[in-house]
Amino acid sequence: MPSTDGQGDTDGQGAWVPRETAPAKLSGLFPDDQLIRRYVDLLVSTGVARGLLGPREVDKVWSRHVLNCAVIVPALGPDVRVCDVGSGAGLPGIVLAIARPDLQVCLVEPLQRRSAFLTEAVDQLGLLNVEVVRARAEALHGVRRFDVVTSRAVAPLERLLPWCWPLVTPGGVVLAIKGSSAGAEVARSSALLRQLRVSATVEQWGFGVATPATSVVRIQSVE
Ligand SMILES: C[S@@+](CC[C@H](N)C(=O)[O-])C[C@H]1O[C@@H](n2cnc3c(N)ncnc32)[C@H](O)[C@@H]1O
Repeated sequence: MPSTDGQGDTDGQGAWVPRETAPAKLSGLFPDDQLIRRYVDLLVSTGVARGLLGPREVDKVWSRHVLNCAVIVPALGPDVRVCDVGSGAGLPGIVLAIARPDLQVCLVEPLQRRSAFLTEAVDQLGLLNVEVVRARAEALHGVRRFDVVTSRAVAPLERLLPWCWPLVTPGGVVLAIKGSSAGAEVARSSALLRQLRVSATVEQWGFGVATPATSVVRIQSVE
């Protein structure tokens, strides 16, 4: 049955199906296109049914969500340990793990409903390089360290950094996916950046693949 709001369609049984098809440029971003398609299927079925993804997002799931995350893959070196703080339904953590089987990805998510979805998705997709930890990031301080800590849509830098920076191993980085507020957030955080002895640079990834390109704030030690 066609939708009446122009945001997608139902499959006749009430489940949302994306009108947006997987982009042709998908090839090359993922070693296994079927795996990322299966993850998207989970997002738009179980994810929507459980309220993890709004029905209005279904129609833009590839461009706004999957590609927005996938284009940052080249920012990650080989074989690194990644922690995705506030992974939600697996963005960007599951996308990165599918794109790069060499990564060891830890998804940190405190909410039961979301962490349960993550565990089910990891099992169903057979992702051997992914671990799900139900916790707030702060609970891992002094316990776990990672080469790269990612986050997307979790909190403004001033709140996010005190959660993420203690999880970074010496020489590691925080990569925070941001929207158009990236530069302003960096400017607002200058005192905290000085206090932590870190630098923050705004990078753009995925020109010609993601529209708009994905803004990432890269935080690293200045020492
Ligand atoms: C708006 S959602 C974004 C989810 C996902 N990253 C995305 O881009 O769709 C923010 C997530 O951050 C999680 N979160 C909030 N505070 C957190 C903390 N201190 N440590 C870890 N996760 C946190 C929330 O439970 C929520 O799932």
